[in-house]
Amino acid sequence: MKILFIHGPNLNFLGKREPEIYGTDTLSDVNSMLLKEAASIDKGIEPEFFQSNSEGEIVTKIQDAFENHNGIVINPGAYTHTSIAIRDAILSTAIPVVEVHISNVFKREEFRQKSFISPVSVGVISGFGINSYTLGLKAIVDFLKDK
Ligand code: DQA
Repeated sequence: MKILFIHGPNLNFLGKREPEIYGTDTLSDVNSMLLKEAASIDKGIEPEFFQSNSEGEIVTKIQDAFENHNGIVINPGAYTHTSIAIRDAILSTAIPVVEVHISNVFKREEFRQKSFISPVSVGVISGFGINSYTLGLKAIVDFLKDK
């Protein structure tokens, strides 16, 4: 089972970026945690990690996942609230997607409460710190196993 993790803009700055909101773990800590978690759930899970600050690169990566990955866990960062292009890429490939956020976007500014990605996702996990990613991994794996 191939799972693609997509980290959107500014997530390469995890650990340095607004630590009171996003914590002190780095993106590489998150990816290491996910590798361990995946192996403990099922040795057949093959995680791949991708980070980009560019909307177009994220669209291309989602298109590349067509026929190569079974599921996607994405934190689209600020593109969550703006990107029709990422939403259309998800619809185009029809790959099951779980949307994750480190912070609880519903507790924050009003502009963060609108997601273009949620309506085309299997589900959304928001507000559990970096544990949102492990919950996202479990959610996509369970969803794909039940399919
Ligand atoms: C975020 C929430 C977004 O609103 C923000 O733009 C981010 C991170 C989160 O993980 O909490 O970059 O997706």
